Amino acid sequence: LAVSWNVDAAMKNGYPYFMLKEIHEQPEALKNTILPRLNKGIPDLTDDGIPDEILKGCSRIQIVACGTAMHAGMAARAFLEPVLRLPAAVSIASEFRYETPLIDEHTLVLVISQSGETIDTLAAMRLARSCHAPTIAVVNVKGSTIARESDYVFYTHAGPEIAVASTKAYSVQLASLYLICCRMAYVRGVYDNIQAAEFVKALLESVPAMETVIRGHEMIREAVSPLIHSRDAFFIGRGLDYTFSLEGALKLKEISYIHAEAYAAGELKHGTIALISDQVPVIAIATQEHIFAKTISNVREVKARGAYVILLTKESAMVEDGLADLHIRIPEIADRFTVFPIAAVLQLIAYYASVGKGLNVDQPRNLAKSVTVE
Ligand code: G6P
Repeated sequence: LAVSWNVDAAMKNGYPYFMLKEIHEQPEALKNTILPRLNKGIPDLTDDGIPDEILKGCSRIQIVACGTAMHAGMAARAFLEPVLRLPAAVSIASEFRYETPLIDEHTLVLVISQSGETIDTLAAMRLARSCHAPTIAVVNVKGSTIARESDYVFYTHAGPEIAVASTKAYSVQLASLYLICCRMAYVRGVYDNIQAAEFVKALLESVPAMETVIRGHEMIREAVSPLIHSRDAFFIGRGLDYTFSLEGALKLKEISYIHAEAYAAGELKHGTIALISDQVPVIAIATQEHIFAKTISNVREVKARGAYVILLTKESAMVEDGLADLHIRIPEIADRFTVFPIAAVLQLIAYYASVGKGLNVDQPRNLAKSVTVE
């Protein structure tokens, strides 16, 4: 009798790596996280035990997290400040825990962690609580230490994430933060019923958009083959696109060992452009309409210096022929939520770069899924 499978392979459900499986699970995880929180089409956090008073009463927001979770926090901040007109800061937990933060009982602290066990995030949360700041933990693992110690918990429903490089946990963290933000806007009178429902409708439209990108994953495999032999890669974008760039660069370096840096596109001219030479890959993200033209002019600058440009835009974006070596277009959805299809593209770029180099995608060297020691 020949047994041609093992438990590990069975759990991968036919996928060669957990990471690819988890990339594919994202649309479902998003629905599992969003839909149970909706009541008449708008977010309702009653079942999560998060009272509206907490969302109404604060005068500042502080977000603390590490790694990918911190990048999710950065994207949420880009919504909080302009829409809610609330000062919102994002801190790296390992820095925050040794600072003397200006927080008090009027500061709502959002703690983001897939595992709920990251030691720096836990210490940052303990510090916040010692300053009497209320905490909401956005956590994936039920009963984890951060979940147990936080004042309030909002569970993401990603299901188990096995690959070290976080994919679906990032998407559901973003969706969770958007739901919390939307509820906050509603209870603070910034959004009425209709506006909150429109926000949620647009959020849900990002799910099929992400599915479309994931379905086309083989195309991305071919697209990234020139990346495999690169020593360095640069990710650029402005505003929200910049926060996506940070996550794209992290994914690529984590699993492909290609040195990758993200830059706010407008900052290039202050130094980094010196590193752009013939065939250096630049992954440019330009999905935000109000700054689209500005980012595109930065793309022209790197192209003129010989960069190999992979450009990520929405379907309708108009750019001149020859600007990009490769132009990946995502479906047309609200600017605010382009992160979901863009995240899938960036995850797939990293994934296929790693596969192309013959690396262990799920367990990159020197990295751990959950960092419980300093
Ligand atoms: C590790 C993982 C990252 C993750 C970070 C924070 O570095 O490799 O993927 O983003 O920890 O983990 P957490 O569980 O707190 O979200």
